[in-house]
Amino acid sequence: MLRVGINGYGTIGKRVADAVRAQPDMEVVGVAKTRPNFEAERAVAKDYPLYAAIEDRVELFDDAGIELAGMVEELVEESDVIVDACPSGVGEQNSELYAEHDTPALYQGGESAEFVDTSFNARSNFADAVDADHVRVVSCNTTGLSRLIAPLGEEYGVEKVRATLVRRGGDPAQSSRGPINDILPDPVTLPSHHGPDVQTIFPDLAIDTLGLKVPATLMHMHSVNVTLEAEPDAAAVRDLLADESRLFVIPERFDIDGAGALKEYAQDAGRPRGDIWENCVWGESVTTEGSDLYLFQAIHQESDVVPENVDAIRAVANAADAAESVATTDDALGMGI
Ligand SMILES: NC(=O)c1ccc[n+]([C@@H]2O[C@H](COP(=O)([O-])OP(=O)(O)OC[C@H]3O[C@@H](n4cnc5c(N)ncnc54)[C@H](OP(=O)(O)O)[C@@H]3O)[C@@H](O)[C@H]2O)c1
Repeated sequence: MLRVGINGYGTIGKRVADAVRAQPDMEVVGVAKTRPNFEAERAVAKDYPLYAAIEDRVELFDDAGIELAGMVEELVEESDVIVDACPSGVGEQNSELYAEHDTPALYQGGESAEFVDTSFNARSNFADAVDADHVRVVSCNTTGLSRLIAPLGEEYGVEKVRATLVRRGGDPAQSSRGPINDILPDPVTLPSHHGPDVQTIFPDLAIDTLGLKVPATLMHMHSVNVTLEAEPDAAAVRDLLADESRLFVIPERFDIDGAGALKEYAQDAGRPRGDIWENCVWGESVTTEGSDLYLFQAIHQESDVVPENVDAIRAVANAADAAESVATTDDALGMGI
């Protein structure tokens, strides 16, 4: 069993912990937090050993009556792999701690690509992370674009990607985020950071991305145009995408018209927290004009990176190859909505 510690038990960390626990070849050593809020309460209720991330805060846990398993340094020492899911920038600060204990670490998409050995997307570059010490699982949007580009590139060749990303203002629990009643070009200059980020996975890819922010919390929406090196018909592209386990091609008969209906569907399907690990591509949006492909896809920002973290754990531990890992992860989670 691979022993996995999770440092940073927020939106991403708590989902990764549950996904790791569901795997047949992994166990959660524990999770680390800085304060005894509701997420700490729930971690304890789920029997995750809870470690304090900051020494000065230990007494806050004592005052709240929450029993700690130890300090984060012990968690790092006891883990075969650490998943750092701290807020952007904190992961890089923590990287020294992981190196001191010789524990391979995964970081999230908010971290810089500069200090890691490689950025990671299971479908696209699993092998680059094998035996690596510091690996960044790319952001929700970059994961969504990479999963789409990989099969298109393999089947047809990709000349150029142009994607407009309509991004949610914040996650449902992020009361401090906005905009509240506005639509922001964000950034107003081109490209948005997403294109260069996708190039951490596909270094030679021609890609331009534009970003907007809207007052929504449910999902991101991508309007994608890919110029291919072939002229397939739309049905063939649709079949190709439907064959990918982490792409959900929404059937027209479902009458799903947006992110709200998608989330409702996920909840009806019994997904934990209403999570949608797959890219959601509207089948009838898949259109080709010569070598130009167009489509819309929705990305659930809180969860699409979760199976990628699980695969990255196996990659750094050299515990499986890409196909085995993805199949195991998908099976354990119940991928395929
Ligand atoms: N949310 C998304 O949509 C999303 C999608 C993809 C990738 N990401 C990336 O994932 C990373 C985490 O994002 P998130 O949305 O999960 O953030 P989050 O919900 O704010 O969770 C981060 C957690 O880390 C804890 N924390 C803060 N400082 C810490 C420290 N020094 N040591 C240990 N824990 C600490 C915080 O909890 P306490 O202070 O209460 O302990 C917080 O709950 C970021 O790089 C982000 O860019 C986020």
